[in-house]
Amino acid sequence: MSCDLSVEIAGLHFKNPILAASGTFGYGLEFAPWFDLGRLGGICTKGLSLEPLEGNPPPRIVETHGGMLNAIGLQNIGVRAFVTEKLPLLRQFQTHIIANVFGSCFEEYLDVIRILEDAEGIAAYELNVSCPNVKAGGMEFGNDPDEAARLTEACKRIARRPIIVKLSPNAGDIVRVARAVEKAGADALSAINTILGLSVDVYTRRPRLATGMGGLSGPAITPIALRMVYQIASAVRIPVVFRTPASEFRETLPGDAFTAFGRRGKFLLLSLASGRVLAVNPMLTGRFQYVDPAVKLPAKTCLVLDIDGGRSLRYADERLMGKLYLLPADGLEAIPGWAAGGPDLLDPALTEDVWLARI
Ligand SMILES: Cc1cc2nc3c(=O)[nH]c(=O)nc-3n(C[C@H](O)[C@H](O)[C@H](O)COP(=O)(O)O)c2cc1C
Repeated sequence: MSCDLSVEIAGLHFKNPILAASGTFGYGLEFAPWFDLGRLGGICTKGLSLEPLEGNPPPRIVETHGGMLNAIGLQNIGVRAFVTEKLPLLRQFQTHIIANVFGSCFEEYLDVIRILEDAEGIAAYELNVSCPNVKAGGMEFGNDPDEAARLTEACKRIARRPIIVKLSPNAGDIVRVARAVEKAGADALSAINTILGLSVDVYTRRPRLATGMGGLSGPAITPIALRMVYQIASAVRIPVVFRTPASEFRETLPGDAFTAFGRRGKFLLLSLASGRVLAVNPMLTGRFQYVDPAVKLPAKTCLVLDIDGGRSLRYADERLMGKLYLLPADGLEAIPGWAAGGPDLLDPALTEDVWLARI
């Protein structure tokens, strides 16, 4: 018996929701001798920087109650070596490769992404914003909603692939950061990175890590992580509703025109002059409004299109279960389950004979 565990995140279709977290799974290849990496939904690579990094001196990992503290210091071989040595092997596996990216300033993040943009076999970028910004006095990008948003926006501008922002639990208000990067165009969020901690050797009275503090991970932080995921998911709309990156809606819909309206199964199909289709599965609570823009915006409004003539077409979804796709008219098979759907109930070709033959 098989069961469909697939999920959609940032417009990407994952065969299951199991993703190896960055830094806990090396470059992925280290685990290839032990099982088929293609069974994973995705692999977030070790953090990649512009130049190779040696990381911190040992001891840089210590065990704690229910978890571990690490201060690896983002050791990695650098983005160029990743592209030439690891990626060609990694992309042979039937799984999504998500490149985890970091830098010590905006330009470094952008340079890493530029190098990855020329490589094939990467599904998305995950921005590790839990890094000190050397140009802002060493404050972590992810601790400041404005800086995190500016970084997200800059990366979005140059990336052809979805941007996932990995939030830091060490931010004063993680929900504010989540909202800011959502507004800046993030296609999805991941949570959470490690929580800053300290472990002391009671005999030497010294920190057990060479660097003093480190990042706490493991079962010890799961309830905190779940609390944050819950708060973030209640506050943002991505990636729940937009099944094509939200930025594509924002950047490519202005100036387009609706040419026809249709329906197939549960999908409303709004054809566009550009040859694309806005396909909407409103699920339980998705609702459209075609109103004067002065009319109060309903709660959980996901999409507002200002139409020529002065009215707005809005899509609101109380339970955020609906799905919006923006696809070429001949590319609707990309919608999960579309190809497997039978003939439409109201299709005249669905005669009694066809019906009987199919059941
Ligand atoms: C040894 C180690 C290295 C890590 N390296 C990275 C990294 O390079 N980039 C990143 O975004 N997160 C990194 N992380 C954070 C993990 O991806 C994950 O967010 C964190 O461990 C919390 O999840 P967990 O408690 O399920 O392990 C690292 C974690 C560990 C334990």
